[in-house]
Amino acid sequence: MTLPVRIAPSILSADFSRLGEEIRAIDAAGADYIHVDVMDGHFVPNITIGPPIVKAIRPLTGKLIDVHLMIAPADPYLEAFAEAGADSITVHAEAGPHLHRSLQTIRQLGKRAGVAINPATPISAIRHVIGMVDLVLVMSVNPGFGGQAFIPESLLKLAEVRELAAGREIDIEVDGGVAVGNARALAAAGANLYVAGTSVFAGNDAQTYGPRINAIRDAAMSQIA
Ligand code: DX5
Ligand code: ZN
Repeated sequence: MTLPVRIAPSILSADFSRLGEEIRAIDAAGADYIHVDVMDGHFVPNITIGPPIVKAIRPLTGKLIDVHLMIAPADPYLEAFAEAGADSITVHAEAGPHLHRSLQTIRQLGKRAGVAINPATPISAIRHVIGMVDLVLVMSVNPGFGGQAFIPESLLKLAEVRELAAGREIDIEVDGGVAVGNARALAAAGANLYVAGTSVFAGNDAQTYGPRINAIRDAAMSQIA
């Protein structure tokens, strides 16, 4: 079952000095989800933001807040992100030995549960939890930074996730190097949820956000139509 095409701009590439304005701008520009990249300087070589930022942006948008946790361990922080107003919380399969428990906890908190996998991680790592997730995130770059080149192997992984998820209502999210030029191929491979950092926010000019979001959406839908 392929879910509708959805675009999730990553605020990692927003102008943090004007974060509120940036959130309002991508909301008005037609973003479906607001993608929030949380990094800890341990699981990935970069540090970004935490629950207080999620709490601060929550009142600014009615769109679904899609929190991508690139932190290890993740479990001690799940409740804080849920309370801050996340709608969807994604943990990495590589972040700890008890992925099943993490996903259970997210569902118990009443949130959509997501699992992410790094480029080197095989799809088999999530086979036995596929029945307890609302979202699978395929990393198409090594997590840690915006603006990296898309890893083509990710197309094969998306197709494997589509097969694994068949018949279930699961968002298949692709994250890293997503742009208008590869959205059609990503849709063909099975993605429906497109994280876009650089390809939406580059230049941080709100006038450009709507046309860019639409272009990615149109390219993805041109495959499906
Ligand atoms: C990377 C993050 C991504 C990142 C994508 O570690 O998970 O969400 O912001 O940025 P772009 O779209 O620039 O590759
Ligand atoms: Zn992300």
